[in-house]
Amino acid sequence: MVNFDRRRFLGLGLGAITATLAAAALWPVWRYLAPGEESGAREKTAVPRERVPVGGALFIQHQGHPSVLVQYAPGEFLAFSAICTHLGCIIQWHADKSEFLCPCHGGRFSAQGKVLGGPPPRPLDPITVTLDGDRVLLG
Ligand code: FES
Repeated sequence: MVNFDRRRFLGLGLGAITATLAAAALWPVWRYLAPGEESGAREKTAVPRERVPVGGALFIQHQGHPSVLVQYAPGEFLAFSAICTHLGCIIQWHADKSEFLCPCHGGRFSAQGKVLGGPPPRPLDPITVTLDGDRVLLG
């Protein structure tokens, strides 16, 4: 009777350890394959209007990605991914020319995100912008 209980106890313990190790091994696979939070309602990023000067750009993180918010005319805002559409470098804002420049291969984009020159094959990826009082909402 005592041996049976010990055997059963060891069996249960071994089963629990095996289940824990299997869960630890499969967790990364599950996280990779499972639909993430991004598939549902995406979180908006709120930026106070005064942080973006007229004719200027503000680089921020939006949903974990480098992004840029531009006030190209008073009260007129646009937002883009700050990732160059050529090979993925982060663009820079050149206020003197009112355009974006990619430091990697010289790609140029207008304040509206259109390609002005260089190798980028397409415009900057736009981000939806809405105005909410004194805030600009991205996403
Ligand atoms: S990565 Fe921007 S121009 Fe090549």
